[in-house]
Amino acid sequence: MKAFAPVEWDGDAVLYLDQRLLPHEVRHERAQTVDDIESAIRGLAVRGAPCIGVFAAYGTALLRRTIVDDEGFARAARRVREARPTAVNLAWAVDRVLAATDPLEEARAIHEEQKAIDDAIGAHGIELFAKGARVLTHCNTGPLATGGSGTALGVIIAAHRAGKRPRVFVDETRPLLQGSRLNYLELRMAGVDAVLMVDAAAAVAMKRQRIDLAIVGADRVARNGDTANKIGTYGLAILAAHHGIPFYVAAPRSTFDFSLERGDAIPIEERAAEEVASFAGTRAAPEDAVVYNPAFDVTPGHLVTAFVTEAGIVRPPYAETIPNLEMAPEVLRLSR
Ligand code: MRU
Repeated sequence: MKAFAPVEWDGDAVLYLDQRLLPHEVRHERAQTVDDIESAIRGLAVRGAPCIGVFAAYGTALLRRTIVDDEGFARAARRVREARPTAVNLAWAVDRVLAATDPLEEARAIHEEQKAIDDAIGAHGIELFAKGARVLTHCNTGPLATGGSGTALGVIIAAHRAGKRPRVFVDETRPLLQGSRLNYLELRMAGVDAVLMVDAAAAVAMKRQRIDLAIVGADRVARNGDTANKIGTYGLAILAAHHGIPFYVAAPRSTFDFSLERGDAIPIEERAAEEVASFAGTRAAPEDAVVYNPAFDVTPGHLVTAFVTEAGIVRPPYAETIPNLEMAPEVLRLSR
């Protein structure tokens, strides 16, 4: 397994990179049981909406082989499907594997498609960058988050490779630091000029660092463009609107939930108080602190300048253009 590949099929297990240990340690683990799969997803060892989908697809294919009775398998698949609520890719991928005649072939297809989809998202997004663009981004949306080349970070890296030489301002992304631990690492590995900052610096960076655009990923997008993504994204979109900065969301079609009219129906995961009340293993609040820890927020569609998808750039009015996206030809179902 390549050191930074987040997920790989290994015959009798799903290998994964434990992203909680990055950037200090590169350690691969083997998921063999439903407990292993569920806890890797819940614990954020494997994370990022498309990557969770790829991992869950292989996991479901593995469980189909190892759990012989249909009822036991259905229970296990449900546990995987419900391990995290917000990223729609998880349920979408499990459902695809459940409906397939060959579960492993379907899981492999989901993984291969993701790679091609990410490359297409990256290629479509290059046009959003002027030479030397100063870009703000949030959370981790690179290869670790998708199993391919990434969504928002994939666009940034594609622009870099196309000679646009972007300078990227990277939010650390409290409380779990996906920005500083993972996004910054991936930008450095790709040779992109990156500047790390605390989340609270976003407003002043927009004002004083002449940010040209913001680009983020998504965990679920409703038909009107309302977008669930890592906590803090909504605030960034408001700041971008205030400063007249375009705000882009890069996401594959599998992240669009065409069954939802609006974002207020998107389930938002709330995580343990401990994630906020501790910092780097040290208590950072009084023992009895009452904590509010939503892992995601929903940015209203009217604050999103455009979506970058594998089918191209999708612009408002979203109530018309996003449903069209569902109808777009399935050009990227490569493995069929
Ligand atoms: O809680 P996480 O780390 O799984 O959250 C990830 C994000 O919010 C990403 O921005 C999103 O999944 C897009 S990943 C390409």
